[in-house]
Amino acid sequence: MIKKQPIGVFDSGVGGLTALTHLAALLPDEDLLYLGDTARVPYGNRSPETIKLYARQLTEFLLERSVKVIVVACNTISSIAMVEIEKISPVPVIGVIKPAVATALQVSSQGIGIIGTRATIQSRAYENEIDQMRDGKNILVMSEACPLFVPLVEEGWHDHLAAYTVAREYLSPLKSANIDVLILGCTHYPLLKKVLGEIMPGVKLIDSGEEAATLTAKLIQIDQLVLRRTELLAPRSIECYVTDMTPTVLRIAQQFLGLPADSVHEITI
Ligand code: DGL
Repeated sequence: MIKKQPIGVFDSGVGGLTALTHLAALLPDEDLLYLGDTARVPYGNRSPETIKLYARQLTEFLLERSVKVIVVACNTISSIAMVEIEKISPVPVIGVIKPAVATALQVSSQGIGIIGTRATIQSRAYENEIDQMRDGKNILVMSEACPLFVPLVEEGWHDHLAAYTVAREYLSPLKSANIDVLILGCTHYPLLKKVLGEIMPGVKLIDSGEEAATLTAKLIQIDQLVLRRTELLAPRSIECYVTDMTPTVLRIAQQFLGLPADSVHEITI
């Protein structure tokens, strides 16, 4: 049997399992290796220097395990540390910003809204990417930091009254503007789709993790076809590593991916 090189995915915590779930569905033969920095999450309110340092450590961990590609599922890391990660990685690195912007530009005809953590929004990474890719397209771009969304999701309050109250407050400037697309620029926000969709009816919601997974699948499909033809593929494995085995980690890993407890391991980086 051929031992495959896994696809490496990392995030500041367990939120990136939303992207891993899409990868697992799109690439059923691929081995997946996930690293969540649950000991130091959240990154969203940290300084760029700290986020870059942590991002390098997470990258090194995946590279030591011979991943063939790195998917940076975390929007905060993708916004701030892509250059640092690419500098030390000999394998391709896929962040969430570019694929989300490419889709947003395709489907928007009026305006694009972006929501994310404070660090993501302050970095203006999404706006910069839109400017590079817009190719003269004249559309409005607006962003809003929504720092209370991550704790709400982690508390399991996806459609709690509090989530509606907070979301209405954060989204009010975007609602008054003429946007037709909203980029969910954070791993946790897809879990708020119901709330966000009700507050922004008619606005297309773009899941940045799903877009990154789709791009990754496209990039490695040729490789997969070649391997499949050899008919020597070992059954796929999904391994999760976390820096702190918090009580919620196992529950979320099982809930998202149906992973058995023995495929989640605690490590130190
Ligand atoms: N994973 C982060 C992101 O996508 C959210 C959680 C955090 O602040 O670390 O921006």
